[in-house]
Amino acid sequence: MGKKKEVDTFVSTPSLACRFVFGFLFLAILAGACFFVGYEFGVMDIFSKGKLEDNVVDPDTVPEPTPGNYLIGVGRTDVTGPIVQVNMMGYANPSQIAQGLHQRLYSRTFIVSDLQNKSRVVFVTVDNGMASQIVKLEVIKKLQAKYGNMYNERNVVISGTHSHSGPAGYFQTLLIEVTSLGAVKETTDTFINGIFDSIVKAHSNMREGKLFVGTDDVVEGNINRSPSAYLHDPEGEREKYNFNTEQEMTMLKFQASNGQPIGAFTWFPVHGTSMNFSNHLISSDNRGRASALFEKMMRKPGEELSGNESFVAAFASANLGDVSPRTKGPICVDTGKSCDFAKSTCGVPPRVQKCNGFGPGVDMFDSTDIIANRQFETSKLIYNKTGVELEGSVGWVHQYVDMSKAPVKLDDGTTVTTCKPGMGYSFAAGTTDGPGAFDFTQSMTEGTFLWDTVRDEIIVKVVCSTPPPTEYYDCHRPKPVLLPTGYMDKPYAWHPHIVDVQMLKIGQLIIIAVPGEFTTMAGRRIKDAIAKEAIRFGVHNPKVVLAGLSNVYTHYITTPEEYEAQRYEGASTIFGPHTFQAYYQTYSSLVGPLVTAKQDNVSRGPAPDNILSEQIQLLPPPFPDRVPDGKNFGDVITDVNSTYKSGEKATVSFYGANPRHNMKLGSTYLAVEQLVNKTTWKTVYVDTDWSTIFQWDDGVSGSNAVERNVITAIFDIIHSVFDIHFEYEKAMQLYDEGEFQLTESLNDLINDGVIINRRSRAIQDLTRLGVLRFNADKTNTLSLKELPTVESHVTIDWWVPDDQPSGTYRITYYGDHKDQAGTVTSFVGHSSQFQVQAA
Ligand SMILES: *[C@@H]1O[C@H](CO)[C@@H](O)[C@H](O)[C@H]1NC(C)=O
Ligand SMILES: *[C@@H]1O[C@H](CO)[C@@H](O)[C@H](O)[C@H]1NC(C)=O
Ligand SMILES: *[C@@H]1O[C@H](CO)[C@@H](O)[C@H](O)[C@H]1NC(C)=O
Ligand SMILES: *[C@@H]1O[C@H](CO)[C@@H](O)[C@H](O)[C@H]1NC(C)=O
Ligand SMILES: *[C@@H]1O[C@H](CO)[C@@H](O)[C@H](O)[C@H]1NC(C)=O
Ligand SMILES: *[C@@H]1O[C@H](CO)[C@@H](O)[C@H](O)[C@H]1NC(C)=O
Ligand SMILES: *[C@@H]1O[C@H](CO)[C@@H](O)[C@H](O)[C@H]1NC(C)=O
Repeated sequence: MGKKKEVDTFVSTPSLACRFVFGFLFLAILAGACFFVGYEFGVMDIFSKGKLEDNVVDPDTVPEPTPGNYLIGVGRTDVTGPIVQVNMMGYANPSQIAQGLHQRLYSRTFIVSDLQNKSRVVFVTVDNGMASQIVKLEVIKKLQAKYGNMYNERNVVISGTHSHSGPAGYFQTLLIEVTSLGAVKETTDTFINGIFDSIVKAHSNMREGKLFVGTDDVVEGNINRSPSAYLHDPEGEREKYNFNTEQEMTMLKFQASNGQPIGAFTWFPVHGTSMNFSNHLISSDNRGRASALFEKMMRKPGEELSGNESFVAAFASANLGDVSPRTKGPICVDTGKSCDFAKSTCGVPPRVQKCNGFGPGVDMFDSTDIIANRQFETSKLIYNKTGVELEGSVGWVHQYVDMSKAPVKLDDGTTVTTCKPGMGYSFAAGTTDGPGAFDFTQSMTEGTFLWDTVRDEIIVKVVCSTPPPTEYYDCHRPKPVLLPTGYMDKPYAWHPHIVDVQMLKIGQLIIIAVPGEFTTMAGRRIKDAIAKEAIRFGVHNPKVVLAGLSNVYTHYITTPEEYEAQRYEGASTIFGPHTFQAYYQTYSSLVGPLVTAKQDNVSRGPAPDNILSEQIQLLPPPFPDRVPDGKNFGDVITDVNSTYKSGEKATVSFYGANPRHNMKLGSTYLAVEQLVNKTTWKTVYVDTDWSTIFQWDDGVSGSNAVERNVITAIFDIIHSVFDIHFEYEKAMQLYDEGEFQLTESLNDLINDGVIINRRSRAIQDLTRLGVLRFNADKTNTLSLKELPTVESHVTIDWWVPDDQPSGTYRITYYGDHKDQAGTVTSFVGHSSQFQVQAA
């Protein structure tokens, strides 16, 4: 480890429908050198809000068969995608490259139709970072090819759980693809096909049934990570609530009319950031773990393996914008002191890199498990209550809105518009869940000379057809724009303009599907407004949930007051200070058509482009595999011990192959097998189980001496597409040596002579220091046939569960290797047998 390998390939593959190009260099890993520092938190005052219904059902009584109110169906499909070499979606950290698998990712769908079969709605929640516009457009295309117009953009919602440990590269705009080196076709296709398949499954098991809604509070399941911004919300409004995050979980329970339970979907606000950015295992984070616990609890006889249960339990995202699962809060990792409250910095000079959120567990696996179990416990409580039975019409409403110029009526009667998208400086500071880059801090309301120069002289000149006018920068105030994404259009758009404004109605339940991350207070405000409107239009006792990260990703939506604070969330509210009001007014105006079934009278609005075919892909394909002389694929390198007790970890490693050759969707890369008689092994655990870990190592993909971040990733893309290189490695080296106080030295520079053109002088200086290069190296061409072969190793861990029966076990690895002609062949490897001694 430790060597960095450059692979200068530039190959276009005309066989793909899209222009997918690979090349450039392997990005690799530098696990953050941070130390765990814990501290105690005070006992929280648990406030119990009014519950919908508190009758507890005796679990032993089988419900009487009764006619249902709706046609209902649920479905789940494995959408795990590539588990190695791809960047992981969420932390925007190019160093976080997948090297294995902990929990598989699933798409979970419900469909509800009225009994007359006139109106139906589809809700999908996917264990991924967020929904993607291109994925929704492509899923709808496939649905229409199969079912005509029964399913379309208007009655299908796709929401993401916001796990930060899924694969990246499935979007159609460039900014959120910079860290993944552009699009990744394997990820994109897996989500499109898998989401479609989960809808087909739900469709094909539709039956008559009943729906119940219930709520309860999750105890210590989250914390506000931008409390200083929340304090900008009016005091009178904050006084209405006991907490600065929402504690309430809402569940929609699905029961067939024969009484059989078939599914449960919950909404609760918390980020999928229990696994931090040092994690390199694909994982569905705390929500996916909660789903697995619930689905396991609901197993029927014969359903023995994880991921194969017929019951679908989904934990969907809500208004989680400022909500972290790291319940011990942030702390400076080097000193143990508190971080700066507004800026989330530590030390002198103030830097965000050492300010990290922690807890509640001893490490990130423990924290994921604890936050999952807190959600799971509450979901069981809600599930066991009768809840309120839903009755009434099924409806939907949808409109495409150009959020780059949406009108907003202000309180004083004047009308303003939202802004073309732009990212503020504090976006680059990251959060206490994943600190960001260089000298950026949270709460920056002014730009710096250096980064304004980099923006205007490099970014604007290279990737904008038209430079942004002054009014654009004014529009975003007090946000200082670092990335004028609304004008960044080369080689294609860096940010979306057109968003889906969409709501679903099932009886008294209204689901607001929002295209981003609403903060706590923004979510409360819009849910209250929608409930009031629904009552005005005749819905009795409406229950409103907000489904976050739905349909298309536009980052954050804070209240206008929180926007003033310019924390990370405000800096990432991309359509400017009036973004929230624009949504508030648009969604409110659509409640009438939703409730009164006038949705067809709502104009479609400007539909987004589908630019799947324009995507760049710079991630190299998986290379062919090899093993050392005398070895076979699947041969053991390091074997298991002969005996383990519960709580111990059994480990075996094999000569392996790149798992990207076969994604094993609906299947597994490993099995923990138990010997049931002399000749028969029975699989007891698979790769999606919490107790197993599958890791892959080619000695290259997981190592890199240089720390990278979202800003460096932007310049990597600019370099590979436009041949202009910002030598951030050099910049960082100088920066670390203290010779290049990024901002200060440039200010000195300005003051030290006749300034004719400050900026060109700054550019000259950056060039002299070796920080900017305009004629970067040309890349080589390499054909697929000449790809080098790679030796790789697979390690499988199994933590023997506490309740594991004594017996004889072995660990099996299912692999697939590729030869230089491109032929993929499967193989199997086994560990030696070992004994488990039950506790
Ligand atoms: C809920 O009911 C299930 C059986 O349906 C039972 O196993 C479980 O203990 C109950 N949980 C709670 C929290 O009441
Ligand atoms: C509902 O209507 C669709 C056509 O709109 C039809 O294909 C489907 O079979 C119907 N389902 C039921 C359960 O009646
Ligand atoms: C992530 O969590 C691990 C513990 O599981 C800890 O050692 C590490 O410092 C954390 N890293 C970051 C960047 O928070
Ligand atoms: C439908 O929309 C038109 C404007 O597009 C409006 O004039 C009309 O009143 C609406 N009809 C209903 C029933 O809402
Ligand atoms: C397995 O065996 C090795 C070598 O004897 C030993 O160091 C290790 O502690 C053992 N592991 C377990 C979990 O027993
Ligand atoms: C789930 O069951 C199907 C058959 O019903 C089987 O093909 C598949 O391998 C199983 N998946 C796992 C993970 O065991
Ligand atoms: C071993 O168990 C399997 C599955 O339970 C069964 O099919 C087989 O006949 C058994 N073999 C012996 C030798 O008992």
